[in-house]
Amino acid sequence: MDKFIIEGGERLYGSVAVQSAKNSVLPLLAASILTEERVTLKNVPRITDVACMGQILCELGAEVRFAGEDISIESAHASNHRISSSLTKELRSSVFMLGALLSRFGRAVCAYPGGCDIGLRPIDLHLNALKRLGVEIVERDGMIFCTCEKLRGAELVLDFPSVGATENILLAAVTANGKTVIEGAAKEPEIVDLQNFLNAMGADVRGAGTDVIEIAGVKALHGTEYTPIRDRIEAGSFLIGCAICGGELEVSGVRAEMIGLLLHKLRENGCKIHTKNDKIRIVSEGRLKANRRIETLPFPGFPTDLQAQAVALNSTCEGGALIVENLFETRYKYVPELMKMGADIEVKGRTAFVRGVKRLHGARVTCGDLRGGAALVLAALGAEGTSEVLDLSHVDRGYARLEEKLQKLGAKIRRVRM
Ligand code: EPZ
Repeated sequence: MDKFIIEGGERLYGSVAVQSAKNSVLPLLAASILTEERVTLKNVPRITDVACMGQILCELGAEVRFAGEDISIESAHASNHRISSSLTKELRSSVFMLGALLSRFGRAVCAYPGGCDIGLRPIDLHLNALKRLGVEIVERDGMIFCTCEKLRGAELVLDFPSVGATENILLAAVTANGKTVIEGAAKEPEIVDLQNFLNAMGADVRGAGTDVIEIAGVKALHGTEYTPIRDRIEAGSFLIGCAICGGELEVSGVRAEMIGLLLHKLRENGCKIHTKNDKIRIVSEGRLKANRRIETLPFPGFPTDLQAQAVALNSTCEGGALIVENLFETRYKYVPELMKMGADIEVKGRTAFVRGVKRLHGARVTCGDLRGGAALVLAALGAEGTSEVLDLSHVDRGYARLEEKLQKLGAKIRRVRM
């Protein structure tokens, strides 16, 4: 369980090119088994969630090859439709494999991806949609058994714009008999990327990025080579890091409209933000002002995956900030660790009230989840003195070469392999 040793107080200067989006690469990897032909994804980050999804594909019988930052998948010989419990537990988002397995094999078995660090994360929307597409589902002893002779198109309405459920439906519907319409679909950029990828494989999907997505089932999909969109959450994490530390940073690969509300909030803090095409530049000078209120919402609202980082930022702003986490029930587990660094935060249910203090001080803190861990790293970079950030396995799930990128910007951070 590696740890970071961080000497806080250095301002950040320079530029960073963000990696391909973890939350796009994962569903694209799941979609790769929809064809027997080779699929190649370019510029894929070396993060443990991608490695885990690669393991799941291998377990299904696909051949997975990493070549530099490219990953090739050939699943002509895949024949196993069961995902092992250990891998489902490790990678909750593997549940959207159900749609892909049902499309390919007409059967799918996986463990119920239990609750985890940020909330219950039920999958009722996934399972109800699959049933409407003709899938028989039996849930027994924590396992989900799905069978379906042939998937059939249907009119679906999602009570909540669930990212994973939208992706699962897309993966199940692309080769179903007839047309499927999703109303109330998730509108995240990663959904648009999945549509573009499936269409590059010969699918007929339209409307991603809006509330209504239409999928006309096609006979079969073919292989393709594809470069996923860049990671808007990694970009946002670096922008918030520069806001916390002070300095000047250019992030490339992400367009403003992909993290729109974050830029508006950073301007509210008093940062200068300039955007041009897929470059975002931030200048942060002096003590910032608190945001007063941030509510996490489905896209294009403030991303829940940047909530912890925004709380870390507001911990040293002038004034108070009210943060409301509308997506997940328990996404504040990192707060007690931030308070060890001197943050003054009160959490009640889904709401956190942050009273800004002048400066945080170094401490020994432990990561409990991916984005909470990232927030602790950013807070330590701005704190006075030395911090130890333990259990980096959480951070390594979603950030490739994080310390390397931060060192290049002037941060005093080093990894100690435990
Ligand atoms: C995806 O998770 C992302 N993960 C999450 O990123 C992200 O936080 C989330 O979308 C919201 O944007 C991946 O893409 C791999 P949801 P997902 O289904 O699909 C409720 C990160 O840090 N819900 O949109 O699980 C659920 O409880 C991760 O990179 C149901 O009630 O998110 C939650 O309250 C964390 N029933 C809300 O919807 C369901 O069947 C959002 O969940 C499904 C979801």
